[in-house]
Amino acid sequence: MKKTDILHEGKAKVIYATDSPKHVILAFKDDASAYFGIKKSSIQNKGILSNKISEIIFTHLAKNGVKTHFIQRLNDREQLCLRTTPLPLEFIVRNVIAGSLSRRLDIKEGTVPQNTIFEICLKNDLLRDPMINRTHVTAIGITNDETLDKIKEIIQQVNAIMVPFFKSANINLIDFKLEFGVDAQGEILLIDEISPETARLWECDSQKILDSDLFRRDLGNVEESYTDILNRLQTNI
Ligand code: C5P
Repeated sequence: MKKTDILHEGKAKVIYATDSPKHVILAFKDDASAYFGIKKSSIQNKGILSNKISEIIFTHLAKNGVKTHFIQRLNDREQLCLRTTPLPLEFIVRNVIAGSLSRRLDIKEGTVPQNTIFEICLKNDLLRDPMINRTHVTAIGITNDETLDKIKEIIQQVNAIMVPFFKSANINLIDFKLEFGVDAQGEILLIDEISPETARLWECDSQKILDSDLFRRDLGNVEESYTDILNRLQTNI
């Protein structure tokens, strides 16, 4: 399959159309950005490591019955995926309070909530991805309640699969972001990536930060940590 036009260039990836209308190619870049582009850099091999980590996670989810866009990794930086119409939404799952929620509610990072927290954000850089709720989503015509119910079901399934998967690599899945798209048959598929770029991952006992917060907060070597995550997940499968 050959790459044709660029469909979308994001902060961390380029999505190419291909000579097949049903497929896209995702290309993972080394560009790193945080705080809506205020902090920018390039991290050696980040794209390669995120591509491989996301491959392992999407493959594990598919094995456990989650429908995703992922087909196969093509090379170090690229993966072949099914083409969908992406919903302009980000779904965040929080098993432990951290990051923006910790700041917004002034709750100590690491606090375990009494239930899993689900958030929806509108994907819009200019508006800084504002948090919205289901009635906003349906009111502005992004999708309907039935689709949101189905997505919630998939999100809970993904969380139930990912928590033990990371735990067996001695990693605590603190929070993560998911995106969904609708394929030509109207099926909802999990799209985008799941990697330390989109999930907070802390080592179980030491609470050592292993994810992109290393870059965001200047806490340590990102390439080394992502390599460590990849090695742990590879020995885990
Ligand atoms: O920044 P915040 O605490 O809201 O992020 C929650 C989780 O969602 C983190 O794991 C973060 O990496 C992920 N996220 C993301 N892309 C965004 C916003 C958050 O991957 N645009």
